[in-house]
Amino acid sequence: MWKGVVTFLSFGKFMGGFFFHGWGGDGREEQLLEYVLENAERGNPQSVIQAVDEFARSGTWFMNVGEEKGRILDSSIAKKNPQLVLELGTYCGYSAVRMAANLKHPDSKLISLELTPHIADIARRIIDHAGLSSKVEVLLAPLSRQIDTIKSTLAKTNGQCFDFVFVDHDKDLYLPDYLLLKEKGLIDEGSVIFADNMGFPGSPKFWSYIQSHPQELETEVHKSAVEYISWIRDTVTVSTFHKL
Ligand SMILES: C[S@@+](CC[C@H](N)C(=O)[O-])C[C@H]1O[C@@H](n2cnc3c(N)ncnc32)[C@H](O)[C@@H]1O
Repeated sequence: MWKGVVTFLSFGKFMGGFFFHGWGGDGREEQLLEYVLENAERGNPQSVIQAVDEFARSGTWFMNVGEEKGRILDSSIAKKNPQLVLELGTYCGYSAVRMAANLKHPDSKLISLELTPHIADIARRIIDHAGLSSKVEVLLAPLSRQIDTIKSTLAKTNGQCFDFVFVDHDKDLYLPDYLLLKEKGLIDEGSVIFADNMGFPGSPKFWSYIQSHPQELETEVHKSAVEYISWIRDTVTVSTFHKL
């Protein structure tokens, strides 16, 4: 009960900071890294995920995809069995660890983009602790500046486009970055676009694009809850891209 109240206050502090100056971290991310290094077994992704969830439930809120939406992400990854995955919004690497641990394809690769350099460094260390550095590359955002690097990384794996894209960054960029991926040929027939936070705080322009383009983006809507706060509702969308 008290942990829930403290977590909610920590969520409030985050929302206040985010609203007034965007989120560059407030020390909680460094504390999370320390907790993971001390408490999670090295080379064990499940142990890393468990440690992050434990820390996030113990009073400090984190904007990780979390446990409930994380299970929807796990099953979408298992269903698609992608070789090449793109994540927009690494944060501390929680979802990157979750996805990379479930990549079964022998030449699989996850490229993840993060805007804040010191948070990208924390993510790299957490991903390394999980033993997944060889599968995951964290690049600095924005996507528009990384197109050439992404294309040359994909070429090294004999790939040209992503089978699965996890969109979890700036909500105003969901639509423009999706359109950029389409324009640059970085998604193809059957690519899956998984979007977090479509219910809270929401991405109205991407939501209305999905609704007005049902043949291009064949979409399943999953009702869920905000990470670590079960009484605030959220939604994720899982869309299959069709080349028209
Ligand atoms: C909700 S968090 C991502 C959580 C992460 N996917 C997870 O579940 O563990 C959003 C992150 O997107 C980053 N971000 C903001 N604008 C971005 C952009 N244009 N490109 C990539 N990342 C961005 C933020 O710095 C923040 O770390």
